[in-house]
Amino acid sequence: MKTLAFKNNDKIAQIGLGTWKSKEGLVGEAVKSAVRSGYKHIDCAATYGNEDEIGEVLKDLFTTDEIKREELFITSKLWNNAHKKEDVIPALKQTLSDLNLSYLDLYLIHWPVAFQPGLEGMPESDADFASLDELPLIETWEAMVEAKKQGLVKHIGVSNFSIKKLKDLMSKTDENPEMNQVELHPYLHQDELVDFCHENDILVTAFSPLGSQDRIPEMKAADEPSLLENDVVKEIAAQNDVTSAQVLLNFHLQRNCIVIPKSTNAERIQQNLKAADFDLSKADMKKLKGLDKHFRYVNGKFFETSDGKYHNLYDE
Ligand code: A2P
Repeated sequence: MKTLAFKNNDKIAQIGLGTWKSKEGLVGEAVKSAVRSGYKHIDCAATYGNEDEIGEVLKDLFTTDEIKREELFITSKLWNNAHKKEDVIPALKQTLSDLNLSYLDLYLIHWPVAFQPGLEGMPESDADFASLDELPLIETWEAMVEAKKQGLVKHIGVSNFSIKKLKDLMSKTDENPEMNQVELHPYLHQDELVDFCHENDILVTAFSPLGSQDRIPEMKAADEPSLLENDVVKEIAAQNDVTSAQVLLNFHLQRNCIVIPKSTNAERIQQNLKAADFDLSKADMKKLKGLDKHFRYVNGKFFETSDGKYHNLYDE
């Protein structure tokens, strides 16, 4: 598997298994099947509500020696209800306990959005959000730095951060984020953000690479364009004798990014890993560039408040 390196030379496999939307009763088998197919990287998050089932499977895989802990790269993310400085390490410890791990390879601030500390479920009113003046991202970040110092995590980063938010955070700390996980695909290239990250030694992970069609209806807009059914993608797939999904995943490898396709289907899990076994040509990449229309499947509207605390989440 192709890898990218952190500054300290630790490696991360460029294709990892996504677990957002992976259902209870299926996610454990998906992780097992992924590891057995050769995946070395699993992307998790507390809010996905499935870390305990993944933890059971990891425990089995490690005790039966199918894979060693240190051979796997495991990411998780701090949920918005634990941004308060003193809540970060307890939230991380809960994730470690659910995943049956003593450390994470990577821990990310999931969103630049803070809920009222301890809020269960999704906010129902503006009052359920805490502003970034009340709970500044730098304070959350300082607790992330502390978690790394304590050896609970090897690397720390952020998710859904714009250049503006990265610059602001970086101006206030000596420990820069090592990763920014954001939505990326041929309809959303975000060249400027990807370049900024790479110039500043921040690795980039692409989420929703296949268009996340299994999102709940409330998160979907009417007439969303399909990536898998796009004619240009289909034509490039046919020319390379691969599937549309493999084109959409290889696209990120060509951009030196990491990608985390979600699947709970054993055959598609294998197919997605094999997206690393070929290279899109420069001409193919140019055709995919032509599809860029700055379209987001995860538009962030669900985190906007009417009192102005949160709006224009992506600063654009
Ligand atoms: P499934 O889990 O049944 O395989 P994203 O990674 O962008 O969030 O997209 C996940 C969606 O894409 C899920 O509905 C998943 O379904 C589907 N999917 C995953 N891999 C493939 C593939 N190789 N071909 C087609 N659909 C796929």
